[in-house]
Amino acid sequence: MKTKEARLDPKQLRALEIIAPYFIVEGKKIRREVASMPGVFQFSIDEALKDVEGLEQSGVQSVLLFGVPSGKDAQGSGAADPRGVVPSAVREIKKRFPRLMVTTDICLCAYTDHGHCGLVRQNGKNFSIDHAATVKQLEKMAVIHAEAGADLVAPSDMMDGRVRGIRAALDGDGFDGLPVLSYAVKFASSFYGPFRDAAQSAPQFGDRRSYQMEVSNLDWALREAAIDVEEGADILMVKPALTSLDIIAELKRRHGLPVAAYNVSGEYSMVKAAAAKGWLDEKKAVLEMMASLRRAGADVIVTYWAKQIKEWMKP
Ligand code: PBG
Repeated sequence: MKTKEARLDPKQLRALEIIAPYFIVEGKKIRREVASMPGVFQFSIDEALKDVEGLEQSGVQSVLLFGVPSGKDAQGSGAADPRGVVPSAVREIKKRFPRLMVTTDICLCAYTDHGHCGLVRQNGKNFSIDHAATVKQLEKMAVIHAEAGADLVAPSDMMDGRVRGIRAALDGDGFDGLPVLSYAVKFASSFYGPFRDAAQSAPQFGDRRSYQMEVSNLDWALREAAIDVEEGADILMVKPALTSLDIIAELKRRHGLPVAAYNVSGEYSMVKAAAAKGWLDEKKAVLEMMASLRRAGADVIVTYWAKQIKEWMKP
């Protein structure tokens, strides 16, 4: 088995410095703007390829793919379909843009009809997450994405044991060199609001608080991150970004692993809305956010402004 250090060389890490998220829908010729996220689109694969061309020209070297499948069921079966939107998109993107680093989101929320990130046991009004069954499905999903050609997988669901399970499944399938970018700290945040629009994944009942962390609980966040390190994560992602600068700094100091910050949908939309009203300068605000994230210690930033940032920073 490769060591952690060997899973990402400095050049790959530099390519991950800024990551652009993509929402991939089924069908053709679809380029649909997300109402609550002006400038962000859901793309069918053919349209995504056109957009990625411009992205790569801007200097962005990596993308994070989210699937927005039309068929959903209680088991989230679409998540483990090799012909599903994400594996298909990975194959096409890697064929056209072999140098682009492609990361895929590993989570069931877009594939379950109830919209939860895991498989659910329901009794009356109460529900609980079936962890073991969920982790099995996530393992299959990760292997299918790896087989399609993904360079990294990014489990975002927060189920206990999923990093260990995914690591073992990848190793067992010959993908021992494929890094896991783990959402190590994911707070239950109101700043994910617009994403539910983009990924069409709002929970149909209950909320995600049983498996996302309380914003005020520092010890919990640090403990969960330490578990992901122990389970074999290669990069630790923190979400949301702007309200978590302390966590980013602390993880960087404690674990000696690359830290990623997810500059989430709500952080994007609030600046867009204010800028549209002329209440602040978008470019300055965004570059200030990015500088703050880097200062805190973020090696990797996932942001909906990826392409624009690269263009703004051109001399
Ligand atoms: C879950 C997932 C979410 C985001 C990324 N992955 C939603 C959630 O955790 O509820 C949010 C990203 C954003 O708001 O931009 N698969």
